[in-house]
Amino acid sequence: MLTTTAKPEADPSSSAGRPRSASTHGAEGIYLDHAATAPLDPSIAAAMNAVASQHFGNPSSRHALGLAAERQLRQARAQIARRLGLVDGTVVFTSGATEALAIAILGSGRARRQPGHVLVSAVEHAAVRENALLLARDGHEVEEIPVDADGRIQQRELLARLRPETFLVCVMHANNEVGVVQPIGRVARAVKRERPRCRILVDMVQSFGVLDTDVAASGVDMVAVSAHKLHGPKGVGALGLAPGVSLPPLWAGGGQEHGLRAGTENVAGAVGFGLAAEAGKGDPERFIAFGERLLAAVREVLPDARALVDPRHRAPHILAVTLPGLRSEVVVNALSERGLWVSSGSACHSRRSLRSRVLTAMGVDERDGVIRLSFGRSLDDDRVDRAAELLRAVLAELS
Ligand SMILES: Cc1ncc(COP(=O)(O)O)c(C=O)c1O
Repeated sequence: MLTTTAKPEADPSSSAGRPRSASTHGAEGIYLDHAATAPLDPSIAAAMNAVASQHFGNPSSRHALGLAAERQLRQARAQIARRLGLVDGTVVFTSGATEALAIAILGSGRARRQPGHVLVSAVEHAAVRENALLLARDGHEVEEIPVDADGRIQQRELLARLRPETFLVCVMHANNEVGVVQPIGRVARAVKRERPRCRILVDMVQSFGVLDTDVAASGVDMVAVSAHKLHGPKGVGALGLAPGVSLPPLWAGGGQEHGLRAGTENVAGAVGFGLAAEAGKGDPERFIAFGERLLAAVREVLPDARALVDPRHRAPHILAVTLPGLRSEVVVNALSERGLWVSSGSACHSRRSLRSRVLTAMGVDERDGVIRLSFGRSLDDDRVDRAAELLRAVLAELS
């Protein structure tokens, strides 16, 4: 079992109120922002180092060093394929999920001779939404699928929008900002019943390693995953294609990665991703218990605070909580000063003070602050207790 070796944190009561320098964050803080990225597992880092130094050959070379590197790559691909239920499908290594999503979306557009129609859920990550909008520049029509107050797409709304020329439906599995989980298997079956040729793309970045991500069983066509969300390296991701699904490449070169992502492969990164996929994100039951304890702590101070998504539809490791009467950034900054790192929403836009599209789509009151607490393997009961203490103290000071 892979573990992390983060140093024990300082007693928050002894350091409360003292700003922490960035250099002490890793050693002393409590990190509750695993949906943004998860700390690299030291045993994965060690394995990657060993591969980078021992198996430095180019996997395309036909001598022994190249063949050894190719074997490492093959094994990593198989580890990811197993986790995705894609042993008969294709796994293409990429520089991350953004690139995997771009290859899937832009490639699906490029495969068409005629302008077509694309449906994108209202809660997608920018990596899906913005690439779909690039398709619109090529003459395709892009339409949004609305969500309910829990952030769930309504199947009736989706089906009502399907057209004969709809060639792509993008519905993410677990949302990164609020944790809502979409019933992707049900969505895929319903879409395929109406439009068997329409492709379904699922962003599985947040669900991979914690929820059931069996692509073959769900009936989806294309999925994107990323290593750094599950204690693997940054800059490594994968596009998974179900059997029979093919795409034209966005660029050409040496033909690596089934011709879909030319360029010499990042073998050490792929090995790190394979190990991270095998280890998974952590125990979902524990994550649910962590969330309950932290929500209870918030509600001791703010009785009207609520979890944004019903627990029945929420990924276990992501909890978004409303903070009535408080501003998200103020709370995030005050907690950061005390060494508790949480997010006010998606890390991608939380530094720009734009209102989150996801919260707007869910109809969340603009006057309410929202913080996102997200969990990973590096967390334990002791840290969660201290995080609860800090939340109580900071929220009491601010309210
Ligand atoms: C849901 C979701 N999709 C896509 C991405 C992009 O992943 P990557 O950082 O690997 O490009 C992220 C990461 O922020 C994410 O949370």
